[in-house]
Amino acid sequence: SPRLYSGMQPSADSLQIGNYIGALLQWRDLQSTHDAFFSVVDLHALTQPNEAAELRDKTRRTAAQYIAAGIEPEKSTLYVQSHVRAHAELAWILNTITGFGEAGRMTQFKDKSARYGSDATSVGLFAYPVLMAADILLYQTNVVPVGDDQRQHIELTRDLAERFNSRYGTTFTIPEAMVQKETARIYDLQNPTSKMSKSSESQAGVLWLLDDPAVNRKKIMRAVTDDEGSVRFDRETKPGVSNLLTIHSALSGRSIAELEDEFAGSGYGDFKKAIAELVLSEFEPVRARALELLDDPAELDRILSLNAEKADTVADATLSDVYDRVGLLRRR
Ligand code: TYM
Repeated sequence: SPRLYSGMQPSADSLQIGNYIGALLQWRDLQSTHDAFFSVVDLHALTQPNEAAELRDKTRRTAAQYIAAGIEPEKSTLYVQSHVRAHAELAWILNTITGFGEAGRMTQFKDKSARYGSDATSVGLFAYPVLMAADILLYQTNVVPVGDDQRQHIELTRDLAERFNSRYGTTFTIPEAMVQKETARIYDLQNPTSKMSKSSESQAGVLWLLDDPAVNRKKIMRAVTDDEGSVRFDRETKPGVSNLLTIHSALSGRSIAELEDEFAGSGYGDFKKAIAELVLSEFEPVRARALELLDDPAELDRILSLNAEKADTVADATLSDVYDRVGLLRRR
């Protein structure tokens, strides 16, 4: 079966609904038809300021949420990126074939470095997409399910794989991005033209998977809409309502057209109540299971360690091929 790879940063205590809808729901379904690898990318998270104990905690919490959302660690390989040393090692090799200008054109890097200023922008942040390419290429990945914000990074990954293959001989599988068109982007509830994000400043616009249900209900009831008063999908003129329709459709599995019909006569209050019910009932078992898993960190660590061994075997094979091809002398 085709090889699949994806990951998330442990950049907050909880995942947000964009990660859940844009990534985890796909991952869960795809693991039965693919040989899937899912990582918690803690090395990537080091590009943000972190307190050591907090990063460890967020890493466990992220892994627990994968499992709670239905990623099965006996079926898929669910591991922590830093447990597999090959990631950092392949990233170094790929850095040597990445253009400075090429890396500088990544829009996420441009946005972040513009916000931080050049002294607070690390070389690690600049090389972030190259580490992501290493993640994907180590596993001879065919498909990478992501939200559309990661599309450009997958393009870079393909370019680097093709460049390496043509320079050194066929080594890497060329991966494809898999982006679910309808749910590729969930927007901030308070600012529905910006992507919802774990690092968002507006707490009121982000629905956290592990948050108190009452808090999430309140955020949904206060979501920004418009003055028209009709439940209709139009991303341009009705971004708030359209975003809520997307969330409903992703969780209920019903089409936007069906939902527009159902809510044709309703006001926004009733529409939001329906969404709150849906989100809360979706989150409730996931939250409960994640908290239960976090009650037994030793068991969670054991699962992660077993899976890291599986990942190590695959990653090492690719890395040693790469070392040979670029001419590194083997240690005897
Ligand atoms: P991260 O941690 O920012 O996000 C994890 C996944 O969630 C998706 N996502 C969203 N989808 C829809 N709407 C949103 N508002 C939303 N916010 C986030 C992201 O597209 C992503 O699929 N660089 C990656 C992590 C990574 C990775 C990899 C991914 C590292 N190595 C290898 C795939 C393969 C990142 O920061 O994702």
